[in-house]
Amino acid sequence: MKVKKLHFANLQIITCSAEETRELGKTVGRVLFPGAIILLIGELGTGKTVFAGGVASGLGVATPVTSPSFTLLNVHQGRLAFYHFDLYRLDSEQDLLEIGLDELLTADGVCLVEWADKFPDFFTEPALRVKITAEGPDRRRFYFAAGGDDYAAIMAELETGG
Ligand SMILES: Nc1ncnc2c1ncn2[C@@H]1O[C@H](COP(=O)(O)OP(=O)(O)OP(=O)(O)O)[C@@H](O)[C@H]1O
Ligand SMILES: [Mg+2]
Repeated sequence: MKVKKLHFANLQIITCSAEETRELGKTVGRVLFPGAIILLIGELGTGKTVFAGGVASGLGVATPVTSPSFTLLNVHQGRLAFYHFDLYRLDSEQDLLEIGLDELLTADGVCLVEWADKFPDFFTEPALRVKITAEGPDRRRFYFAAGGDDYAAIMAELETGG
């Protein structure tokens, strides 16, 4: 795993397998706090759900993490509640309210949102933003941006390899 520090509160990490991405998510999941928000951005098949599975594992979730692209929201319980959203199929902010996203964003669990960039104006709370790009069949580049000190601490954890 290659780690490159850009400047305070920005970090790039490259993974070379789904397993490495899962481990990266797990490192994040271990240090998440009540009310944490993770916004995932990346094209189809870049590894958002694989990363989410790792986060869940780091939170101590025992149930399998599957894609919420049809269910829109999957809820798991670990040391914190884990709310896993996929906004790919949604079209309006009204849809977001209908699935209760606004309420869960301010609840005590952890919210992880795939396709958060579809609604750029909706997410005003501090959050960990993670952009993923594919650079080859198995190579993915992760761009982490921390929205505040709590999230910067998570990135410090990633820099030292968890
Ligand atoms: N380095 C890597 N990290 C993550 N996944 C990888 C990597 N290399 C290959 N893969 C493969 O890429 C796919 C990622 O699928 P995943 O469902 O996580 O993507 P996604 O971004 O959630 O897609 P969608 O937008 O459809 O929800 C998996 O088949 C996984 O095995
Ligand atoms: Mg997915």
